[in-house]
Amino acid sequence: MRISDKAAARLKELGVELRQGVSLAEETSLGIGGTTDEILLRRYESIPEVMRLLADEHIPHRLLGGGTNVLIVDGELPWVVLHLPTAHPGMRAEGNAAYVDASADLGGMVTFCAKHDLGGMEGLIGVPGSVGGALRMNAGAYGTQIGPHVREVELYRAATGEIETLRGSDIRFDYRHTSFAPDDLMLRVKLELPSKPFKEIIAGIKVCNEKRRASQPLNQKSAGCIFKNPPGGSAGRMIDELGLKGYRVGDAMVSDRHANFFVNAGHASCSDMLKLIDDVRERVRGAYDVELENEVIVWRN
Ligand code: EPU
Repeated sequence: MRISDKAAARLKELGVELRQGVSLAEETSLGIGGTTDEILLRRYESIPEVMRLLADEHIPHRLLGGGTNVLIVDGELPWVVLHLPTAHPGMRAEGNAAYVDASADLGGMVTFCAKHDLGGMEGLIGVPGSVGGALRMNAGAYGTQIGPHVREVELYRAATGEIETLRGSDIRFDYRHTSFAPDDLMLRVKLELPSKPFKEIIAGIKVCNEKRRASQPLNQKSAGCIFKNPPGGSAGRMIDELGLKGYRVGDAMVSDRHANFFVNAGHASCSDMLKLIDDVRERVRGAYDVELENEVIVWRN
């Protein structure tokens, strides 16, 4: 979607950077996605006004975080994309609290906390994506989830049109699901973390990195796990048991390393990936009578 010259001029006045005709295939870990205009929200204070402008001009929009858990349709996209700049995110430690901008890289945040002898986040070390995305999805790995450590979240709430601060106790963090509204825009988080010596944290990080390297296709284009695990079960194990590793639709392929990772093995289109997801879901339904739910967020028209 192209922003009109009039809206672009207003955005410029608000101190917003506009990037035109951006290919989201280049901004997502799957390497799939069409083109659109992108708005870089450099000053958080300007967000309410930017949002009002988008509403007044009837410009549909979506927020892209780290782009590591999203499958985006191809072609000219019907929304502009909002993005928080990722360079130099704010991170500050104070006692057992860490204050981190949502645009920070999640792994960068884990190592920042480690350097301040703040532990408890080791499991999240190899989870790709931004802190904002991790908050929205309640990212987790190796027994760690971000949710229980959250004390405050500063966010733009579309419902009120204002920047607000929510207390952690007022947010529900479930398995890969939270009570944030889809159009809430995470800005900053305050975490409370247990004190732990740096060396111990680093040892924990090493173990998680090794486990991940041994079981996940880290050097291929993917969005991590495609499906949530069903209660008490493992999507990866079921897909593997059905012999579907290596199964492909075009260049979209079930990883031969971890069956719940679907990789872009070349130039996969969004429809290849969607067909692969549907095919696998159907095979699992037929064999196990289990309906797998997407873990990856799908943006389609
Ligand atoms: N398994 C297989 N074949 C496979 C993959 C897994 O048999 O191809 C078996 C494993 O041997 C193991 C079980 O399935 O016994 C579970 O596998 P794994 O330990 O790899 O964990 P997972 O449940 O598949 C979850 C998260 C991952 C996270 C890991 C590590 C979900 C959907 N996935 O995977 O998160 O990294 O645990 O904690 O909850 C993600 O969110 O994108 C993600 C990758």
